[in-house]
Amino acid sequence: MAEGPNRTNCNFAWLRSKKVRGPQMLSVIATMVVTLAFLALSTYLFHSDLRPGGIVLIVLLVTLMWGLAFVRDRSEPEQLVAQNARPPSGKLLEQSHKMEAIGRLAGGVAHDFNNLLAVIIGYSDLLLESLGSSDRNRAKVERIKQAANSAASLTRQLLTFSRQQVIQPVVLDINQTVSSTEKMLRRLIKENIEFTVVLDHNLDRVKADPGQIEQIILNLVVNARDAMPNGGKLRIQTGNMLLEKDVAQAGAVVPSGRFVLLEVTDTGTGMDEQTQTHIFEPFFTTKAVGEGTGLGLATVYAIVKQSTGHIEVQSTLGQGSSFKVYLPAAAQAAADHESGKGTAKAAFSGETVLVVEDARPLRDLICEALSTSGCTVLSARDGQEALRIVSQRKSAIDLLLTDVVMPGMNGPALAKQVRALCPQTKILYMTGYSGEFIRADMLIAGVSLIQKPFTPADLGRKISKMLADKSRENSEAAPNTSAAPKAAAARTSG
Ligand SMILES: Nc1ncnc2c1ncn2[C@@H]1O[C@H](COP(=O)(O)OP(=O)(O)OP(=O)(O)O)[C@@H](O)[C@H]1O
Ligand SMILES: [Mg+2]
Repeated sequence: MAEGPNRTNCNFAWLRSKKVRGPQMLSVIATMVVTLAFLALSTYLFHSDLRPGGIVLIVLLVTLMWGLAFVRDRSEPEQLVAQNARPPSGKLLEQSHKMEAIGRLAGGVAHDFNNLLAVIIGYSDLLLESLGSSDRNRAKVERIKQAANSAASLTRQLLTFSRQQVIQPVVLDINQTVSSTEKMLRRLIKENIEFTVVLDHNLDRVKADPGQIEQIILNLVVNARDAMPNGGKLRIQTGNMLLEKDVAQAGAVVPSGRFVLLEVTDTGTGMDEQTQTHIFEPFFTTKAVGEGTGLGLATVYAIVKQSTGHIEVQSTLGQGSSFKVYLPAAAQAAADHESGKGTAKAAFSGETVLVVEDARPLRDLICEALSTSGCTVLSARDGQEALRIVSQRKSAIDLLLTDVVMPGMNGPALAKQVRALCPQTKILYMTGYSGEFIRADMLIAGVSLIQKPFTPADLGRKISKMLADKSRENSEAAPNTSAAPKAAAARTSG
């Protein structure tokens, strides 16, 4: 398997060349056979009593040859154009088919896979909470959790570059994202690498998904680390850039304007030109089997394009590489409050949460985690059962936590009916990928989503934040006794 880079493309090229050559050879042989047959027949006729017939046949043969030559002449330039055009268009087509197929595959498995990972991660977390710090089984449970987290990040990568990941862009300060990941990055890097972070403190904000920016930083830093097995220097730098006029890049135009630059530079092995032309292709890797999937830079590229930014690479073999990511500066000056982040554990005082999830292990885990943190938990395995609970219940349900894809009624349809019965209920969707029918316009006030797989702690914090918003809204609304609905807040809750 480790024969080197781009194995797949080499194989496809071979198949393609065979396909082109086959019919060509056949037509050449057929033409030769027909020509020889004509020649033999006309020569025979010419020397026999049927000379006029022979002359006619020779004339026919000459006309046929001339006709063939004419058709060939006409088709030749076209063929050349087609051949010249084939590498990019064929490659792009192949690439987009590959992406499509991977996207379908990733989307298909993401739902069930994320449910399973949520169960593994969730129970590991609950177990870790119950184990004392000196318990000898602690390290083993931590290993289980780490492995599940790696699997989750792999699914995320697949979903990201096939553009199926649910993204929640906010106005954010990239410096903050760099700072919050710095500690984790230092743990990934060996001591023989000198790591520096240079932040521009007047940095413009960008509109992006914080998780995706972390993914960019992580992928670039891990690549830089891997390129310096014997040590070296690694630098992350941020800055503001002004692009004065539009620039054409890779068939697209990068419009002029203000950009935020995130640069990761290393003094590692560098790359030759051949490698540089392939690095953004999914599954292109020069690493040994098991050491790289070749998805890192494909993911970075997909995120950058999704954020209408661009990426540049400068690399010299033996000297090092620099990856520059440019993201458009956001007009809004202040960074949005990053929701649901933090480490504090949520505590509840009997708020009612209705959990609707058809995967039983996940439902059980969520119910256990929420009731341990003090929620009153009701649970249903599908939309019908949930509606029965809501309609029979005398007191309000504070929050509906529902899966999106379920047999029978899906999450959004259920949420609509619950809201009709109980308008104050907050809605929190649990989702694994963007194919799950959650559109941005569904995320109105009081509706939010959490991405699977999540930890019980993440879920607790998210619910706690949504319920806090709810009680704030209620107290703001309290002095006003009018039944007029409050102006719809144009923000996404949570
Ligand atoms: N900083 C770098 N220095 C030298 N080569 C690099 C650097 N970054 C990327 N590359 C080259 O680009 C290839 C593709 O990188 P990419 O991140 O997409 O995949 P990977 O690192 O091989 O695997 P994965 O990131 O999926 O674990 C790498 O295998 C390596 O050859
Ligand atoms: Mg990588």
